[in-house]
Amino acid sequence: MKKSSKIRVGIIGLGVIGEKILCAFQKHPKFEIVSICDVVKERAELISQKLNGIVYYTDYKELLQNSDVELVYVAVPPKYHHLVALDVLAAGKHILCEKPLANSLEEARAMSEHAKQAGVVHAMHFPVYYTKAFKYINNFVTSEKIGEIRRVEINTHFHKWPCEWQQTDWIGGREQGGFVREVFPHYIQLTQALFGKLEHIQSQLELPADSDKCETGILASMKLSDGTPLLINGVSQIAQQERIAFTIYGTNGTISLVNWIKLEVGKYDEPLTEISLQPVDPTLDLLMNLANAIKGDRADIIDFQAGYEIQKVLEALLQKI
Ligand SMILES: NC(=O)c1ccc[n+]([C@@H]2O[C@H](COP(=O)([O-])OP(=O)(O)OC[C@H]3O[C@@H](n4cnc5c(N)ncnc54)[C@H](O)[C@@H]3O)[C@@H](O)[C@H]2O)c1
Repeated sequence: MKKSSKIRVGIIGLGVIGEKILCAFQKHPKFEIVSICDVVKERAELISQKLNGIVYYTDYKELLQNSDVELVYVAVPPKYHHLVALDVLAAGKHILCEKPLANSLEEARAMSEHAKQAGVVHAMHFPVYYTKAFKYINNFVTSEKIGEIRRVEINTHFHKWPCEWQQTDWIGGREQGGFVREVFPHYIQLTQALFGKLEHIQSQLELPADSDKCETGILASMKLSDGTPLLINGVSQIAQQERIAFTIYGTNGTISLVNWIKLEVGKYDEPLTEISLQPVDPTLDLLMNLANAIKGDRADIIDFQAGYEIQKVLEALLQKI
């Protein structure tokens, strides 16, 4: 049978995000899902049925032996990223890995090094980077509209953690869960994409007495490479609807990304007002860039080296380094 010219994808991990990105791969003209895997057989079977009986596995190593698979999307919980990704790279397949890259700095370093040596495309799933809102922010901070940047702030306020839509067994745990690991990589990535490396990271974590449970608060400060302060204020279990805001304050203008997609802008002595942007699925743009990278064309992807730089900040925030 003649193989299609589409990039053939295998997916490992069919949970909350795995299923969501599976739908994006399905919609995208450049990709074709050829096999899937989840350790939970019922889950793999169910998704296989939805995909007209596509080949499924419960052992990811069998998926990696399938020579049809060119690109592997890894969407297992964070503590398995390292193990699975190293095997994907050893099998010589392109990889799209979920964030955070790893569950420790050592793992992230090894993944980045192996990825460089493997001679394949290695990318991470950071959808916010591909939104129209982020493109707008990028233009704003490099224009006169912002003036001199005085401060950057990341505020994450949750009335409840884990959130309603992501009730998995690991996400409220200290080993690999918590909102710092889950949410902050996105905003560290955006900050590094805009301003480069972050320095002088000081962090104060608020941890519950139960050592199995994740943090309930974080107060941290860092500096951009030009010395501009970056402040972090994260807290959960408070009486306020969930609100996540990434704000850049300038002398001429201030810009804020609220709850992932809502963009607010204000000029000097004016309130912040919402900028309306046409909603598009940023993952489709990410996948277009990934397809271009695999074809050897120009592409804007966030690779494992960038993932390692993000992990350095993440581990410092978690007071692990
Ligand atoms: N980029 C984003 O916007 C975004 C959003 C949410 C989650 N995530 C990340 O995606 C990853 C998965 O998160 P989730 O919420 O989907 O978790 P989840 O627990 O819902 O899903 C993980 C799935 O992986 C399966 N699994 C575990 N070990 C496996 C293995 N060895 N082989 C095959 N399958 C295995 C589990 O059975 C489960 O179905 C995490 O790293 C998380 O941080 C990213």
